Amino acid sequence: MRTVLVLNGPNLSRLGTREPDVYGTATLADIESACAETAAALDLATDFRQTDDEAELIAWVHEAADGRTPIVLNPAAFTHYSYALRDALAMRTAPLVEVHLSNPAAREAFRHTSVVAAVADGTVAGFGLMSYQLALRAVAGLLALGR
Ligand code: DQA
Repeated sequence: MRTVLVLNGPNLSRLGTREPDVYGTATLADIESACAETAAALDLATDFRQTDDEAELIAWVHEAADGRTPIVLNPAAFTHYSYALRDALAMRTAPLVEVHLSNPAAREAFRHTSVVAAVADGTVAGFGLMSYQLALRAVAGLLALGR
């Protein structure tokens, strides 16, 4: 069974109480269990992690590249400016799907740019917790295509 690394960037540990009008009331633990359930139905396992630290996130991306591990990534604010994260992701060796709970295109102008999008297979945004579940489906589909 393939394991998908589900990586979460800064401030996502605060979900549940963080701007619930924008991000909803699901906690990161709720998202983790939903991901585990969806992955199991797709014959996948998940390794779910969160960090506020850019260096730690980049180390996890390197680990995934070395292990040919697919990634579902919510880069949070790093989405908009971390060229270091983008360069790490460019070395990927397996599917990568970018996810966002909110729809950044419908928010402040600084959120309209993703420096990560161009190195991902695709992006799922705006569906709350469901964004992660849809991203896992996309990963399963890409793996089935031999990617
Ligand atoms: C986010 C959107 C980002 O703009 C923001 O910085 C986040 C969360 C989302 O999931 O909607 O922290 O990635």
